[in-house]
Amino acid sequence: MQWYRPFRAPAVTAQTGTAVRVQISSERCQGHGRCYDLSPALFGADDEGYGTVAADGSVPPGREPEARRAAANCPEQAIEVTGDG
Ligand code: F3S
Repeated sequence: MQWYRPFRAPAVTAQTGTAVRVQISSERCQGHGRCYDLSPALFGADDEGYGTVAADGSVPPGREPEARRAAANCPEQAIEVTGDG
């Protein structure tokens, strides 16, 4: 069983209409798997266990904290969250 350091997601502020997206740097990802363990709705794994983003990387409304939590828990800092949801 893996333990993850505690993380407090930042409060979500007013919606601005800008879509939040996630992407994974294939150069940085080492396959730790925390992203898809923490947020299987937003991330998946390829055949070798490296992280992938679901669909086109768009983050559905309400899942922004989840995206930021996954990014904060990636030991390689391979996840980028863009937009301001
Ligand atoms: Fe890769 Fe980080 Fe996820 S290393 S598998 S993006 S937790």
